[in-house]
Amino acid sequence: MSNKDCSFLPLLPLAIWTCCCLRQAAVGLENGLARTPPMGWMPFERFRCVTDCVQFPNDCISEALFKRTADLLVSEGYGALGYEYLIIDDCWMEPNRDAVTQKLVPHRTRFPGGMKALSNYIHDKGLKFGLYHDIGERTCMSLGPGAFGHFALDAQTFADWGVDYVKLDGCYADHMDFDLAYPEFGWALNKTGRPMVYSCSWPFYINKPNYERIKKHCNLWRFAEDVRDSHRSIFRIMQKYYTQQHTLVQSGGPGHWNDPDMLVLGNYLMSYDASRLQLAMWAVLAAPLIMSNDLQTVRPEIKKLLQNRAIIEVDQDPLGIPGESVYTLGNLQVWRRPIQPINNLGLHSYALAFVVLGDYFPCPLCPQTFEVVLEKLGLNNIMGYSVHDLFNISDELGIYKANDKFQTRINPQGVTFYKFKAQDFY
Ligand SMILES: *[C@@H]1O[C@H](CO)[C@@H](O)[C@H](O)[C@H]1NC(C)=O
Ligand SMILES: *[C@@H]1O[C@H](CO)[C@@H](O)[C@H](O)[C@H]1NC(C)=O
Repeated sequence: MSNKDCSFLPLLPLAIWTCCCLRQAAVGLENGLARTPPMGWMPFERFRCVTDCVQFPNDCISEALFKRTADLLVSEGYGALGYEYLIIDDCWMEPNRDAVTQKLVPHRTRFPGGMKALSNYIHDKGLKFGLYHDIGERTCMSLGPGAFGHFALDAQTFADWGVDYVKLDGCYADHMDFDLAYPEFGWALNKTGRPMVYSCSWPFYINKPNYERIKKHCNLWRFAEDVRDSHRSIFRIMQKYYTQQHTLVQSGGPGHWNDPDMLVLGNYLMSYDASRLQLAMWAVLAAPLIMSNDLQTVRPEIKKLLQNRAIIEVDQDPLGIPGESVYTLGNLQVWRRPIQPINNLGLHSYALAFVVLGDYFPCPLCPQTFEVVLEKLGLNNIMGYSVHDLFNISDELGIYKANDKFQTRINPQGVTFYKFKAQDFY
């Protein structure tokens, strides 16, 4: 039985489904997409579900917001750096399907030109078009219908609109078995013949996610709560990753990524140091870099962070190996991601992030100095590593050997982030 024959799978007993549909034991979803973590922009954390365009013309979820953002992604240089997916989140629909065709209908006053025209506008800018949907009866904000009962029709509608990326949420679906429904929607997407990145909220909604299965069906998946605009939120998501990092490190890779949710730097509450922390950590985790901010008002120093080429390069490293925490001492934690180049002994280079976990007892609001022998972090290339500060790549710190001590000084809520490039054997 082929992959495609499983489209009637809700009717099958689980045992048969497992035997016949999982046999194509591919490592992960192979639709050729998301070979590196997707990058782009999505409104939800910043703009939520504002629908009153009379009172809030700049903030409401509308065609105008997405056209403005498409323009800014290009004119401000984000697009050229890889931020290519412009994704519409919840609150874009009319409350009901079209009475005759049963198709989804974009909100008539907020999206007067319809989705195909907006999709063309985005594509004409050289960007890609993403769209939100929900697997259940209603979308999460409950303003529009979910996909339940209409998987094939909705997948085809998305394909007809030129959608390149689908975010599929999991609200109003209590009665559903996600382990069957998420793959089924994925097959509906596949059958349209249009390549679409498939972003799943699947593991977030279930108790014991089976990541082996999830990674075979989704290009990325949300493993933690919704991100909010605060250091506390970033920290909680990091800790959520930490508690299951052995599983998540195995799950992420080219074509299939762990998604800790949007980048929130550039909004209201995150300090400069917390902004650096989120960016560095997301790069260590091999996370999608999907900004949620107002590109018109992002402060210059935050824009510089979001456009840091060296850090984007770490995030987009072609090996696609997610990082993990390798060392904790008191309130200091070291996160390590293996990256290119691999030296002539076959040893990786690394990105290392040094993080403060909580208040530092003698002086909670002071920078803290941390010193460690590299070997303790698993950096044991006898030829050593040439070290660069990833926040200032021109800052060359010299060569460190495995038994050398490395010292760094971390601001409150902050991070220091370095590239350790493995030196070749003579
Ligand atoms: C559909 O799935 C097959 C098998 O995994 C894959 O080779 C193909 O690229 C997919 N097509 C699309 C449009 O996703
Ligand atoms: C970046 O590093 C260089 C070389 O060490 C240094 O001269 C410069 O002041 C640094 N820039 C910033 C913004 O820290």
